[in-house]
This record gives sequence, C-alpha cells and structure tokens, in this order.
Amino acid sequence: MQAVLDYLKRNQARFVAELCDYLRFPSVSAQPQHKKDMRACAGWLVDHCRRIGLDARLCPTAGHPIVVAKTPASAALRRGKPRPHFLIYGHYDVQPPEPLELWKSPPFAPRIVGRSIYARGSMDNKGQNLAHLKAVEAYLQTGTPLPCDLTFVIEGEEEVGSANLAKFLKTRRAELRCDAVVVSDTDMPGPKHPALTYSLRGIIAFEITVRGPSRDLHSGIFGGAVENPAMALARLLAQVRDASGRVTIPGFYDDIAPLSAYERKQFARLPIKDRDLQKLLGVKKLFGERGFTPTEQRSARPTFEINGLTSGYQGQGSKTIVPAWARAKITCRLVPNQRPAKIRELVCRYLEKICPPTVRLEIEAGHGAEAYLVSPVSAQARAALRALEAAFGCQPVLMREGGSIPIVNDFKKILGADSLLLGLGLPDDNAHSPNEKFNLDCFAKGQVMSAHLWRELSNI
Ligand code: BES
Ligand code: MN
Repeated sequence: MQAVLDYLKRNQARFVAELCDYLRFPSVSAQPQHKKDMRACAGWLVDHCRRIGLDARLCPTAGHPIVVAKTPASAALRRGKPRPHFLIYGHYDVQPPEPLELWKSPPFAPRIVGRSIYARGSMDNKGQNLAHLKAVEAYLQTGTPLPCDLTFVIEGEEEVGSANLAKFLKTRRAELRCDAVVVSDTDMPGPKHPALTYSLRGIIAFEITVRGPSRDLHSGIFGGAVENPAMALARLLAQVRDASGRVTIPGFYDDIAPLSAYERKQFARLPIKDRDLQKLLGVKKLFGERGFTPTEQRSARPTFEINGLTSGYQGQGSKTIVPAWARAKITCRLVPNQRPAKIRELVCRYLEKICPPTVRLEIEAGHGAEAYLVSPVSAQARAALRALEAAFGCQPVLMREGGSIPIVNDFKKILGADSLLLGLGLPDDNAHSPNEKFNLDCFAKGQVMSAHLWRELSNI
C-alpha cells in the first residue's frame, strides 16, 4: 500500500496535466454540434485507460458512447475464492457552458489558480472520475496486487438523463454484475468534512409550450383582442406554487415518507449555516417551503423549477409584437416514494385543467428518474467511511443531497448493487454555473480514498 501512496504523491503534477487534457474536450452532451467532441473525448479516455494498464473499449450506443475499462485478471491477488467485483461509475459529458461571457477564462481552457482548477466539467465529473483512474493506475504501475476486480463505466449522457445506459447494463448484466458501485459525483460540505451521501433526489423533465396566434402579430394592431402566450404561460406557472414555495398540484406530496426526527437532527448538525448559504448563492434572502430548514428543502423535499423561459423577441432594442408562442423548460426534483410516472401525470393533468381556452397547451415529456435512498450503516457504507477518514484525516459526515444521478436506481434493479456515493465536490465549485472549478486537494485526497477503498470494501 505504501508503494501506491508514494506513487500517487510522486505523480501529482502529471495527473494535473492529464486532467487538463481531459478538460480541453468540449464534451457537451446536450448540444448536437458537440457530437464529434463527445466521440473524441471518449476516445481519449479509452487511450488513457489503456496507457495506465486497463483493458478498455469504446461501446457505441444510440446516443453518445460509453467507455468500459477493466483491471486485467493478472492485476488481482490470486485467491481460491471468487474475488469481489466493484464498478466505478462516472461521466465524461458536461453541462452547456453558457453564458460564456460570465467565465473569467474560457470554459474549455483549464486554468489553475492556487489549489483550484477552473473549467467546465472539472468537478462535474471529469476530475472525480480521473481521481479513481489514478488510484487504480497506482496499483497497476507499482505492481501492487488489487484485492478485487474493478470495472470503470464512464458514460457520456449523464447530464441529459442517461437514456441509453440502462439498456447497456441489461445487455451486459453478466459481465457487469458486481458487489457495489462506487460513484464520486456528489458534494462534500467542506474540505474538512468528507461525506457519504446516502440519498439523492429523483427528477422529471418536460417542456411546456403555449401557442397563441399562428404568427407573431403587431401588438398595436391586434394586442388586446388576443391572449398573449407569454402572459398565459406566466399565469399558468404562477399557479403551480404558493407564496411560501409549496407546490399546489393536487396529490404532489401524497406518497412522500415523512422525515424521521433522527434524520432531521442529523441534518441540523451539518456544518452549513443559513447565512453562509445566502452569501454563497448571492441571494437577498433564502426562500423555501415553510416548516423545513434550507438543508431539508434542498435535499429531502420535492420542487417544481423553471430551468428556462422563452418567448418573443430576445434581441437588442424593442420590438412590438404579440408572440406566437411561449415555452418553459421545467424539472421537478422528487424524493423517495414519489413515482416519476405518477407525478408527471399529476403535473400534466393540473396544467391542462388550469390552461385557459384562448391558447393551445403542449407538454413534451423529457427524462425521468426515481430518488435514491440506501442504508448509511451497511458494512459497505462503513467500509467507505473508513476509506474517507483515512484519506481526509477527519471524520466523514452522512448526508442526503438534492442532485440526481439517474442511473443509480438501475444499478440496483439491473445489477443488484448498491451505490456508494463518495463525492469530492465542494459547495462553491460552481457545478452547472460559470467558472466551475475543482479543488486539487480534493483531487489528490480522492485518489488516496480510492486506493484505500478497494481494500476496505474487499475485506468485509
Ligand atoms: N453530479 C451531479 C449530481 C449531483 C450533484 C448530485 C451534487 C448530488 C450533489 C450530476 O452530474 C447532475 O448534475 N445530474 C443531473 C441529472 C439530470 C440532468 C438528469 C442533475 O441533477 O441535474
Ligand atoms: Mn451535473
């Protein structure tokens, strides 16, 4: 083990240079113009995996390709009994970098300032999956036997809902069957608070289009005698939530399991103060459902959010029209026991009911995923906590988080494996925002955590 840790220490500068190479690919899965960049990034990853000693291949899908890389059988300790097998899941796709003008340096030209590396995808998720690759490289390149077999599955569609990964898991169920999945794609509350995340929110995505006149109209000639689709959409959306932030759609909260007093007590112990959160986010005042703390609101309560809102003229200066249509991109975050299909149905029914007869309403369904909840006290969870503590030198916390990783429920359903969510991101890393960054200490400690993890997980 010492040889592994020494190797990691000795090679940090090269690892950071390799992370920069990885970050230069504009692998934006949502934007069709980046299809070639997606393929190139996956190709780089396959080459990289091969260089460090893994058996790697590129697996095409109906969408962006998946990279699968395995430790060769020769890398594992030979023992009579079958070896444990762990999957490491990550994604090489990133969120769109827009608005570009708010970046202090271009999103795909990585820049190091102090102990942070700035680039789209640095934390979410390239830096985190590369940390695991570097740990495994250290085993392979120092000839240190691994106590288990490892398979990396690094996909290119996480940020758009992982539409093709479940099918991929199904067709390769036998090959991918494993004892647990390790995922570093979440946050930790601070550099001295490594975390095991035991719950994620689910999600449903959809687009609402409100159509009015057959074309944009002169607002002076016709305005006043036709409904304005932007106004109609605004009114529709305004009726979805009350003033305190509670969603008003009938049935929306029906199935939710109440939070236990024990969990609420644990939430209250997390080292995040309301004032610090308010400052970090740059809001005048925090806002959220009455009766719940901000930590609860953003990790254990469902939401209805507008992600994008478009209508009419968006260019410079003024243009006097009644727009022909208005559109909103929406996602709801879901919590355990809420079923995505049912909530989608409730939302559609409600919007159709309150839509005025003067406009046409179209609702287009997008991706969806259930929330995730796993035991934080299983033998595997405790093994993961030991690895976190060994790497970070402080006691890890348990937490629920509000983001979604759509595939983790499929890992359970298809492969029968729990996911251990061991995130290396910090709350101020600007995930999905301009100036995303990743802390290089988290990168280095993440590698050490991964190195310890395979021993801890294999010895239970
Ligand atoms: N890494 C995030 C998920 C995350 C972040 C979980 C922080 C917990 C804490 C992931 O890359 C992500 O952004 N997922 C999307 C999924 C969606 C597009 C289906 C999300 O949560 O918006
Ligand atoms: Mn993300």
